[in-house]
Amino acid sequence: SKLEMFVDELPDMPRIHSYRVLNGVPKSKPLKIGMFKKKWKFHRDLPPTTVYAFGKTKHTATVPGPTIEALHGVDTHVRWQNHLPSKHILPWDPTIPTAITNTTRGIPTVVHLHGGIHAPESDGSANAWFTSKFNERGPTWSRKTYHYPNNQHPGNLWYHDHAMGLTRVNLLAGLLGSYIIRDPVVEEPLGLPTGDEFDRPLVVFDRSFRTDGSIYMSSIGNNPDIHPQWQPEYFGDAIIVNGKAWPRLTVRRRKYRFRIINASNARFFRFFFSNGLRFTHVASDSAYIEKPVTTNETLVGPSEITDIVVDFSQSKTNVAILANDANYPYPSGDPVNQANGKVMKFIILPDQEVDTSRLPRRLVEYPVVDLSSVTHTRYVAMYEYASKIDEPTHLYLNAKPFDAPVTETPRVGSTEVWYVINLTEDNHPLHIHLGLLKVFDQTALVELEELKECMKKKNDAVKCNLKKHARGKKVVVGDHEKGWKNVFKMIPGHVTKIAVRFSYLHTNASYSFDATAEPGYVYHCHVSTHSLTIYFVQYHDILTIF
Ligand code: C2O
Repeated sequence: SKLEMFVDELPDMPRIHSYRVLNGVPKSKPLKIGMFKKKWKFHRDLPPTTVYAFGKTKHTATVPGPTIEALHGVDTHVRWQNHLPSKHILPWDPTIPTAITNTTRGIPTVVHLHGGIHAPESDGSANAWFTSKFNERGPTWSRKTYHYPNNQHPGNLWYHDHAMGLTRVNLLAGLLGSYIIRDPVVEEPLGLPTGDEFDRPLVVFDRSFRTDGSIYMSSIGNNPDIHPQWQPEYFGDAIIVNGKAWPRLTVRRRKYRFRIINASNARFFRFFFSNGLRFTHVASDSAYIEKPVTTNETLVGPSEITDIVVDFSQSKTNVAILANDANYPYPSGDPVNQANGKVMKFIILPDQEVDTSRLPRRLVEYPVVDLSSVTHTRYVAMYEYASKIDEPTHLYLNAKPFDAPVTETPRVGSTEVWYVINLTEDNHPLHIHLGLLKVFDQTALVELEELKECMKKKNDAVKCNLKKHARGKKVVVGDHEKGWKNVFKMIPGHVTKIAVRFSYLHTNASYSFDATAEPGYVYHCHVSTHSLTIYFVQYHDILTIF
């Protein structure tokens, strides 16, 4: 049976401020945010769905969770509390490395602030999970309250579960939300649309449902002899924005700012407007870009954030459908269909509005990458190889599983150049914790089979003569993607050159991290069935900062 589109109003998730202003001075306000099992209405005609939701209380918990509003330079302290009963609402697979193999004593969760620059103990490491009342704790669990210093530049982050082997199901169940760092000193002069009505997060993901309203996830693995349930990707046909399937929003004829987070497991979105309205990019994940960039469409991989201004006064029609035409898996999978090719509907009021917001010529400038200060060049290869049990689809970063010893040990404050070599068929969004990255270029690899064979044998890009192979066509990286980011799309059959910086960009604040407390940080593919289920899925490596 089909659900009618555009019948639910777009919600705005509750906003929780992690500070309060006393006599004009902002002060940190400690937060307690729980994870609750509850019912959530995804659509007018769909029975309520059992979900896991973040919120201050069970009653106010939402999917996605509340938007956390943080202020640059003011600490956020959150006690993330797990109130989830034992049995998981989704099928999961104990044959992949998982926090615990049976959840009779509670469901392991841990929260990662994606894009945050903070100490390892607050990073939400996959092994720092805990169950209800902290009854069970993972091997690297160390604290109940997490601390995010918000010393980084203003920008868009999001928080989500990161528990070993359960991330994919915990996210599908609803454990995610957005987090905004604001800095009035930097942002007010820009004059962009502001206020809860004109500056809104849009958290977008795909889900499938059974007719009883429950989330549908196949409980049979694609290789059930080995993994009874695990599948390499999850795709759903219903497109959910801020917790409603294909919602609608009535807007005024003026500019709006939308911070769009792709919180899907594996779906890429290439957004465009049915009536030709355009996007003006102002920021991305983590940071602003240097000047606004206008495009007709925008490709957003899993966990990427695109921050755009849409000027509805330019609309020639009174209705605009936000649509999607990205194949799934991206880029060589199925074309979109009637359902997943539509995202939401904007109904544009007929009267022109007075709009005092503007798009400045320049946004925010960041330090340029000084190549002479680059301390290391690293090669990161993504490729598939047969496992011991001869399963063909084990995907690793540099052939290392998640639990392999630390391979990268960059110094705080350093900048490195990484060549990411994608020898697989799919586009993989590579995400780096703590660091920020800047994309230089993406170059097609020639004589790919030869390179693959060599990498399988030697696992060494220099010995395999990467230079010789990296002379195909260069892909133009969009101007809106040239800023500092924390995740980027690694094109199959290409090498992507990035600068990685392990520090804040805009402040002089320095780290005082005790790296012995935790094994450090991770980088991984953000198709969450790839990275965070860890078995033949890892794109995951540990990165120690010291
Ligand atoms: Cu968005 Cu390691 O996570």
